[in-house]
Amino acid sequence: MKLKDMSLAPIQGKVVLLRADLNVQMVDGVVTDTFRIDQIIPTIKSLISRGAKVVVISHLGRPNGRDESLTLKPIAPLLSERLGTSVPFVNDCIGPVVDAEILKLNPGNVILLENLRFYAGEEANDPEFAKQLALNCDIFVNDAFATAHRAHASTYGVTQILPSYAGLLMHAEVNALSSIFDNPKKPVLAIIAGSKVSTKIDVLKNLIKSVNSMIIDGAMGTTFCYAMGYAVGDSLYEPTMKETALEIMELAKQYGCELILPVDKTIAKKYAPESDPIFRDMNKIEPDDVILDAGPISTERQLAAIDKSKMVIWNGTVGMAEWANFSRGSFAIANHLAEQTKMGKIESICGGGDTVAAINATNTMNDMTYVSTAGGAFLEFVEGKKLPGVEALREVE
Ligand code: 3PG
Repeated sequence: MKLKDMSLAPIQGKVVLLRADLNVQMVDGVVTDTFRIDQIIPTIKSLISRGAKVVVISHLGRPNGRDESLTLKPIAPLLSERLGTSVPFVNDCIGPVVDAEILKLNPGNVILLENLRFYAGEEANDPEFAKQLALNCDIFVNDAFATAHRAHASTYGVTQILPSYAGLLMHAEVNALSSIFDNPKKPVLAIIAGSKVSTKIDVLKNLIKSVNSMIIDGAMGTTFCYAMGYAVGDSLYEPTMKETALEIMELAKQYGCELILPVDKTIAKKYAPESDPIFRDMNKIEPDDVILDAGPISTERQLAAIDKSKMVIWNGTVGMAEWANFSRGSFAIANHLAEQTKMGKIESICGGGDTVAAINATNTMNDMTYVSTAGGAFLEFVEGKKLPGVEALREVE
């Protein structure tokens, strides 16, 4: 897929409206995960080195009107620090205050505007709101792949008004995820885990058609085990997804995709981080067992499947990776993917909030081939859906 390249845009002295995804985790106004901030720095640096005046816009959370707990203000100092230049914060994203700040900008200056979702017009893709965002700007650059599945005023509306280009991160994301389908290194393995089959049905169905094998574990794997008739104790699973799970298993057979399902699990007697982990074969789960992680035999099988592959797509942790006692399975996958990637044996493409957290916790971020900043957009792309924010940046061929 060819996207409009920002390096071809005439930007010297121009005002560039830059859509970033700064929807980061914050606790009491302190950013606890800077991954998305770090990933847009190369685009901003490139723009300022070419003499652009950069106006950064983003959403944060899902506010209903103005909500000071969801201000983007705490992000401005982090941008300043990373760029080595002051990034003033403007307390609004449209209106006279913003107009005045933009008019004051010199080439190489950067400002950060307030949360776009303080205005209903953003999510409604209101053309009037898009027009106000675009006011005083010359060019639009979209680097918010993680929000590209939303047709909002700042991801789609403004592209109908300003000459629009993809940022460096947008290019990297689209190239990495497209390679799964356009340039797969076979055999391809998908590791799809997490809590709900219901949120990943289309991902499973689409991937099964193109990958050679697929690991399903986590609570999703528990649902598949339930569908096959195993007792799952007092664990998290989706009984209503039984037929869907069976249908997915049938589809895998049809397309010759080997499904690697759990054969054992790590359980606890109580749903609590301090519980002792106990290993159980899948056919020995007791009524009061709570499944909280993959089992060691399943992990061995999963690592062996990685060894047999040349490309691995990973989305979703296989247990409660944020609880030390139940992180073993997810961390084993992260570490093994990193090792195999470093040795040049596989390409590893990873995405999703929990997955990125496990990668961070194992310090393997720089060892993977590609780690996406996206959650929902990653899934929709892998489902085979067209993302409006990406489509709007396509080069007409
Ligand atoms: C995300 O975190 O997945 C993106 O920022 C999109 O956020 P949203 O699901 O609130 O639109």
